[in-house]
Amino acid sequence: MTAPNAAQIADWNGAVGERWAAEQQSLDALIQPFGDAALAAARAAPGEKVLDIGCGCGETSLTLARAVGPSGEVVGVDVSGPMLRVARNRAAGLANISFIEADASQAPLPAGFSLLFSRFGVMFFDQPVEAFTRMGRALAPGARLAFVCWQPAALNPWATVAARAALAAAGLPTPQADPRAPGPFAFADPEYTSGILEQAGFSNIAITPLEAPMRLGASPAEAAQSALKVGPASRIAREAGPDAFPALLQAVEAALTPHASASGEVLLPGRTWVVTANWH
Ligand SMILES: C[S@@+](CC[C@H](N)C(=O)[O-])C[C@H]1O[C@@H](n2cnc3c(N)ncnc32)[C@H](O)[C@@H]1O
Repeated sequence: MTAPNAAQIADWNGAVGERWAAEQQSLDALIQPFGDAALAAARAAPGEKVLDIGCGCGETSLTLARAVGPSGEVVGVDVSGPMLRVARNRAAGLANISFIEADASQAPLPAGFSLLFSRFGVMFFDQPVEAFTRMGRALAPGARLAFVCWQPAALNPWATVAARAALAAAGLPTPQADPRAPGPFAFADPEYTSGILEQAGFSNIAITPLEAPMRLGASPAEAAQSALKVGPASRIAREAGPDAFPALLQAVEAALTPHASASGEVLLPGRTWVVTANWH
């Protein structure tokens, strides 16, 4: 039997994690508005103990560490060795922040956290109810949960425009994946997400839509390069292989061109859910 979350763990320690680590600054800028909304909903206060699930390169862990101050503590948990290397470098010398390299749904976590937080890091579990049940055991009674996740891919053209063009250029069929399979869009249906949290023991669940523009690049050419580095189109580029890359790049640039502003900038909307709840 395959170990839980094996495919995701391999991805985040392979090309996907390496790309996220290399592109940390631009990706943090791209998704900052969504993280800011989740952080505002989380209301981390001085002295709090916070768990940042799927913390990646550590951006939100660092922000949370500033909010909880020297009397508080932030622990970031992630499966990705390459991304945690970036996070640890960024947090060097800070006493109130540490990182655990582990599957958050399987690892024995320390206890007594008052806040469970995540920016786009909780949609990758094979067994989400079990994952949230186990993560809940690390929480103190009455602890809060706050995370942000994507609405359906069909409402997120930043993901679909480039991917559709790349698929067509590569001559690959449209993948028929289960929309709830582990991946960025697994929590797109708020009823499904709310059911998972309820079954795991969370209450007072609120799921609020949040839309913000995403700046994909200063020009269609730049946006196409980025789309083929990270995100759904980049997976297609890897599958198609290096020989197909120039054709994919050209097709993705052409597909993004109608979305460029007068200055050339490519801005497309990102649509997410901000989810909050209480533990028991
Ligand atoms: C889309 S990235 C978001 C990273 C970071 N939160 C950010 O906003 O920049 C998803 C993160 O979830 C992590 N992840 C996926 N499955 C995980 C698991 N089972 N346990 C812990 N982290 C996981 C990945 O390694 C990756 O860092």
